[in-house]
Amino acid sequence: MSAARLDLRLGFLASHGGTNLQAILDAIRAGRLPATAALVISNNSNAQALRRAAACGIPALHLSGAAFPEPAALDGAILAALERERVNLVVLAGYMKKLGPAVLARYRRRVLNIHPALLPDFGGQGMYGLRVHEAVLAAGAGVTGVTVHLVDADYDRGPILAQERVPVLPGDTPETLQARVLQVEHRLYPEVLRRIALGELDLERA
Ligand code: GRF
Repeated sequence: MSAARLDLRLGFLASHGGTNLQAILDAIRAGRLPATAALVISNNSNAQALRRAAACGIPALHLSGAAFPEPAALDGAILAALERERVNLVVLAGYMKKLGPAVLARYRRRVLNIHPALLPDFGGQGMYGLRVHEAVLAAGAGVTGVTVHLVDADYDRGPILAQERVPVLPGDTPETLQARVLQVEHRLYPEVLRRIALGELDLERA
């Protein structure tokens, strides 16, 4: 049974470039994704993700441990910002920090993440950025891929919503592999969000 259509108000958290954020914003603008980008938060004041948000007229906030040294205070500030913008789905897009318990409790089954490998392989502690692709190549894997999953307290272990395989090619370097995987990320993340918006993917049953 499919879920009801959702009036998605997306709240993004991103630490760096935000190319996945951009792919989702482009999908919204092109009419491929019925959703509203309500807020972008970054822990990094220099994140290109914040500039991308500002360029699209989306509220953009820098919230980090610098202003909120107490983890519970940062957790509370992020939660307050998401609620103020009436965010109903949190989209992690290269967010290098862990969400706190208040946000995770309030947005239970409503936090998505994208990972540049086929989880549960090549996930967990220390597996981010080029390190993921280095590990894939070091393992001699013939295939890698992209995973979109729900985030719970266990992080890279939440229920998987979608996966797509990407071949590892002879002569691949971590950089070439990363670029090939990223192209798939940019297509898969908006697609998964679209399925949620249309009620084709029920996060309660995922
Ligand atoms: C992506 O590879 C994503 O899978 C991972 O972090 C990277 C973010 O890239 N979680 P970008 O900031 O969206 O360009």
